[in-house]
Amino acid sequence: MSTFDWVIQLIYVLAASCFVLGLHLMNTPATARRGNQVSTAGMTAAIAATFAIVIHGNQITATGWVVMLAGALVGGAAGLYSARKVQMTAMPQLVSMFNAVGGGAAALVGLHDYIRAGTSVSATTSVTTLLDVIIGGVTFSGSLIAAGKLQGVITSAPVAFPGARLVNSVLALIAVGFGAYLIASPSAALLTVVIVASLIFGVSMVMPIGGADMPVVISLLNAFTGTAVAMAGFVIGNWAMIIAGALVGASGGILTKLMADAMNRSIRNIIVGGFGTGDAVAAVAGPGGSVHSIAADDAAIQLAYAAKVIIVPGYGLAAAQAQHEVATLAEILESRGVEVSYAIHPVAGRMPGHMNVLLAEANVPYPQLKEMDEINPEFARADVALVIGANDVTNPAARRPGTAISGMPILNVDQAKSIIVIKRSMGHGYAGIDNELYVNPKTSMYFADAKKALAEMASAVKTLVG
Ligand code: TAP
Repeated sequence: MSTFDWVIQLIYVLAASCFVLGLHLMNTPATARRGNQVSTAGMTAAIAATFAIVIHGNQITATGWVVMLAGALVGGAAGLYSARKVQMTAMPQLVSMFNAVGGGAAALVGLHDYIRAGTSVSATTSVTTLLDVIIGGVTFSGSLIAAGKLQGVITSAPVAFPGARLVNSVLALIAVGFGAYLIASPSAALLTVVIVASLIFGVSMVMPIGGADMPVVISLLNAFTGTAVAMAGFVIGNWAMIIAGALVGASGGILTKLMADAMNRSIRNIIVGGFGTGDAVAAVAGPGGSVHSIAADDAAIQLAYAAKVIIVPGYGLAAAQAQHEVATLAEILESRGVEVSYAIHPVAGRMPGHMNVLLAEANVPYPQLKEMDEINPEFARADVALVIGANDVTNPAARRPGTAISGMPILNVDQAKSIIVIKRSMGHGYAGIDNELYVNPKTSMYFADAKKALAEMASAVKTLVG
């Protein structure tokens, strides 16, 4: 190995160490920012080393340089712009788009190497190339559909057609069967068939998934992206890509398992299609019963004289950017001796950890945030459950079969002695079904934007207690 190669390998090892350390630092909110910085430093070093290889090899034409630099500039600028400008609530769409470009790019790397090698490609390279293009292809098209659904460009309702499972099975067979044949006799034409089958499979895998089940599929596609990148790393012999891809694949896989467990869904069913809402598109009958609506003063009386209040934040809190207002209201209540805690559902909001990030921004003390399993037994002792812009994660319809959210564990808000719900209307949550909690005789609805409602409640409590 030449000194140059030795230095490059060393930089790649250092870059990979930064990725591992960065991921470790992201374990807690206190060090997460530093974790991001360390990982970014590692990625910058890896990109610089790759440029050094290209320059040192002197194998690239002037046109090649223009294409590469233009790609890096356009991609870098688009990534920087979208990451800086994106609203917190639109983050899942952005993550899906990043998954799509990551998976697509990894597939292209494998494809390019395969075509360049011609018929002399080894069996080992064929296997990794195949895994790369199959997983990358599925990730690319599946993530584009997921981003479209999350953005509302494609209907978020499950789109299923008869025989979908059979079609998925045939597509999977084509990809795997032709792929196995390709290992014995390399052919760019057959590889193209495998890629097309993978792209169609990605679409047909995500289209039947709707409503509340989207979080699982996003983290699954994230795991796929990492795996495709790791495979591309094997194809071109790049250690930094292998390690970075393996880290994303493994962490995405763990997150998928956690999400699937939290939603009571099976990962196998996601892949074979028609899981969750795809199987159970039956609408819930309207909640029926009457809705009791209140104003700030009524809410203030309930809150100010409660001994225990559980706050249930949801997507609406994020949409209203009302995290500071809820923290202020909680502080006022605590100063009166009210015991306040926050119930965090694993899929509340639109991305993993959404509520934790939001409340951390308002400096809500971390010990007050309680995960679903920990807080659920406490609802029966709560005087008031204050639900702020949360809908699906509180819907008792999840306890019955035949609804879009059946089987999903929910926060047991209906067990509290009294329930106050802040939202703007009787509108649905992400799953698109009625919430019978709103017609529960213990529930009072406060119809307003969450930010405005919480500010009014805080001021009403202050006026009430002096
Ligand atoms: P949702 O069920 O989506 O309900 C949010 C509610 O917030 C809506 O009913 C809406 O009612 C209300 N709202 C919106 N803007 C508001 C505002 N400015 N002020 C007050 N209320 C407002 O939220 P959730 O309970 O957090 O459940 C999350 C859902 O998203 C689940 O179905 C989950 O599966 C899905 N999902 C989650 C993720 C992740 S990873 N967390 C990713 C994708 C999808 P009004 O319009 O009447 O105000």
